[in-house]
Amino acid sequence: MEISSIHKALFLEILLSPLLASGHLKTLKESLDTSPLLPSNFLFGTASSFYQFEGAFISDGKGLNNWDVYTHKPGTIIDGSNGDVAVGHYHRYLEDIDLMDSLGVNSYRFSISWARILPKGRFGDVNLAGIDYYNKLIDALLLKDICFKSFDDRVKYWVTFNEPNILVIAGYRSGEYPPSRCSGWFGNCTSGDSEKEPFVAAHNIILSHASAVDIYRTKYQKEQNGSIGIVVHAVWYEPISNSTADLLAAEKAQSFFMNWFLDPIIFGKYHVEMKKILGPTLPEFSSSDREKLKKGLDFIGINHYTSFYVQDCIFSECEAGRGVSKTEGFYLQTSQKDGLPIGESTTVDWLCLYPQGMEKIVTYKKERYGDIPMFITENGFGEKDNPNSTIETCLKDVKRLEYMSSHLDALVTAVRKGADVRGYFAWSLLDNFEWKDGYTIRFGLHHVDYATLRRTPRLSATWYKQYIANHTTQNLSASE
Ligand SMILES: *[C@@H]1O[C@H](CO)[C@@H](O)[C@H](O)[C@H]1NC(C)=O
Ligand SMILES: *[C@@H]1O[C@H](CO)[C@@H](O)[C@H](O)[C@H]1NC(C)=O
Ligand SMILES: *[C@@H]1O[C@H](CO)[C@@H](O)[C@H](O)[C@H]1NC(C)=O
Ligand SMILES: *[C@@H]1O[C@H](CO)[C@@H](O)[C@H](O)[C@H]1NC(C)=O
Ligand SMILES: *[C@@H]1O[C@H](CO)[C@@H](O)[C@H](O)[C@H]1NC(C)=O
Ligand SMILES: *[C@@H]1O[C@H](CO)[C@@H](O)[C@H](O)[C@H]1NC(C)=O
Repeated sequence: MEISSIHKALFLEILLSPLLASGHLKTLKESLDTSPLLPSNFLFGTASSFYQFEGAFISDGKGLNNWDVYTHKPGTIIDGSNGDVAVGHYHRYLEDIDLMDSLGVNSYRFSISWARILPKGRFGDVNLAGIDYYNKLIDALLLKDICFKSFDDRVKYWVTFNEPNILVIAGYRSGEYPPSRCSGWFGNCTSGDSEKEPFVAAHNIILSHASAVDIYRTKYQKEQNGSIGIVVHAVWYEPISNSTADLLAAEKAQSFFMNWFLDPIIFGKYHVEMKKILGPTLPEFSSSDREKLKKGLDFIGINHYTSFYVQDCIFSECEAGRGVSKTEGFYLQTSQKDGLPIGESTTVDWLCLYPQGMEKIVTYKKERYGDIPMFITENGFGEKDNPNSTIETCLKDVKRLEYMSSHLDALVTAVRKGADVRGYFAWSLLDNFEWKDGYTIRFGLHHVDYATLRRTPRLSATWYKQYIANHTTQNLSASE
């Protein structure tokens, strides 16, 4: 696949807040300002993505996307599985909306499959069956709350890209995700250039974001009264020591990962540190690009799960690892220091519990980008599936509940200190297809039996329901 086709992969996600009941908003506004609770219009939801949830991969005229093709190649997914069926959300969305309703959430974040609505790409016809599915899904969500009728249009928040920083790194540097392009010691691909293509792909994504925002602002925003933003994968990078070099390395790690996208979108240019290290490898923005980039965004979406230590590799020798090469930014990303993990480790190798990271990343963003509203668009806890576990054990997910509780506490602290965070979306409503890990890692508030697709609430679902109830203004009014 040519890199230019990344333009086609631009997908508009939807953060939908149909269940936001105006009745819930009647409250003592003044008392909120001093209360330990979140803002009265805070969105609580769950997140999903079409490939991980929908299934129905060739139903009703849908075309194939790069993950459909990739997962069907032998050896690409740990358990040999794919998202052909996933959790069958395409056919079971009504049941899933009932599950959301029982949690008491007021919003839902999901993504639209381009291959479902444009099966032959941008130059083919629109697949009306695909459009019809998303219309039915949205309308069914709206039925849950008649108060939503008071809103002008159905979708309030649009997201241009989900985790473009993961997409370009896994797709064009390590080659672990489609289109599986990489070179040299970066991975095992048949073609690619790990030291150049990620920057070209990223540049195109940034420009397509700018184009989508431009179109939305010019043609639709006034009428629809919604907002548009982008979602980045946000890791907290903790300097491994307080040496100046390590402090700078941690900052550089952000520049080469998250700010890589946010800086151009918000400031109209790449970070000076990236430019210094990469030189001409980093594409330039033309003056018309810069003009378009001025449209920026309305909010930043943050997918945050974990934190890593960062060590400088310019002034000190680093062992091999993530980050150490020139085009990655000359730092070593590691989850251990003196043999100890940064936080409690889990059965998922990249996931350590470091809830402080939530407060730190949100605060960092506020300091760097000012008062742009933020949403935690994903946060959640994954566990390796143990086929020997009984269903009862599987449902008692105390670790997930502790993870969510500690991360929400850290988030509340950041909000109380002034960060403008407007929502939290748990990943995820259901166990689902976890990319390279197939169905071997479970992230759901509800357990899914993949043989029958039966959904069963876990302890964490009950907990989240209570947490939401405790943090909505209904409760506050009742307790005032
Ligand atoms: C590289 O990929 C090829 C083809 O998929 C595979 O046969 C080979 O085992 C891989 N090598 C390594 C070191 O993973
Ligand atoms: C648009 O939304 C804002 C707040 O979100 C609200 O104050 C305003 O009245 C809305 N405008 C229209 C035309 O609905
Ligand atoms: C760095 O300094 C801060 C603030 O004094 C301290 O909290 C932190 O523990 C120090 N970090 C290391 C790795 O020594
Ligand atoms: C499941 O049980 C089998 C047989 O007792 C054992 O060999 C295997 O290691 C167990 N698997 C896990 C993941 O615990
Ligand atoms: C909700 O509030 C009740 C009463 O204060 C408390 O006992 C319970 O632990 C809280 N639950 C959650 C999930 O916050
Ligand atoms: C909040 O409301 C829920 C149900 O509406 C109730 O179960 C819970 O006890 C309430 N918590 C507090 C702290 O009032």
